[in-house]
Amino acid sequence: MTLIIAPSILSADFSRLGEEIAAVDKAGADWIHLDVMDGHFVPNITFGPPVVKAVRGATPKVFDCHLMIEPCDPYLEAFAKAGCDYITVHAEATKHLDRSLQAIRALGVKAGVALNPSTHESVIEYVLDRVDLVLLMTVNPGFGGQAFIPAVVEKTRRVKQMIGNRPIHIEIDGGVTPQTAPLVVAAGADVLVAGSAVFQGGTPDHYARNIAAIRNS
Ligand code: DX5
Ligand code: ZN
Repeated sequence: MTLIIAPSILSADFSRLGEEIAAVDKAGADWIHLDVMDGHFVPNITFGPPVVKAVRGATPKVFDCHLMIEPCDPYLEAFAKAGCDYITVHAEATKHLDRSLQAIRALGVKAGVALNPSTHESVIEYVLDRVDLVLLMTVNPGFGGQAFIPAVVEKTRRVKQMIGNRPIHIEIDGGVTPQTAPLVVAAGADVLVAGSAVFQGGTPDHYARNIAAIRNS
């Protein structure tokens, strides 16, 4: 599979979110990663469907929506209508993972499941036929700019084995840099989320250099 780089707008300038998304699009982003936090499942709050809808027109690229909210089911339709192409829910944030994944696909959206660093990969064994993407957190969710947790490299390898020849993306989220990217790609990841490593420097020129540095690592 070809490598997909998905800048997380969590590290963008929120006062100019539409412009920032257009800038990373132009700088070589493949997808746009949107981190939705509720102050309950994770100790931070970001934005909801109205903001996703407001920035949808900034780029035609894939909107990869990472829901760190509990419960998630009541909000799936609103995020689908706001223009998300992928909706990823945390296995830890839904009592009925199979139901949540079915609900996402029923909305005509690709379905993803995310696992915290300490969550065993066995929780996805019986839903593999219902997912388009498995997101492995390489930091504890809630904040950008944290250090990569190396234990997840082995988990990535195991998930890659479990997936076999199914067309499922493995996405790595947290602490991705030109130093850590090669470790997870070698283990089987094909989608890399990066927030601080993409937005550092704060100008479109930096974004292009930063994305290229991850891609070429
Ligand atoms: C963390 C979010 C990540 C985060 C990544 O809860 O899911 O997407 O923004 O940021 P960096 O790349 O700075 O670790
Ligand atoms: Zn994320």
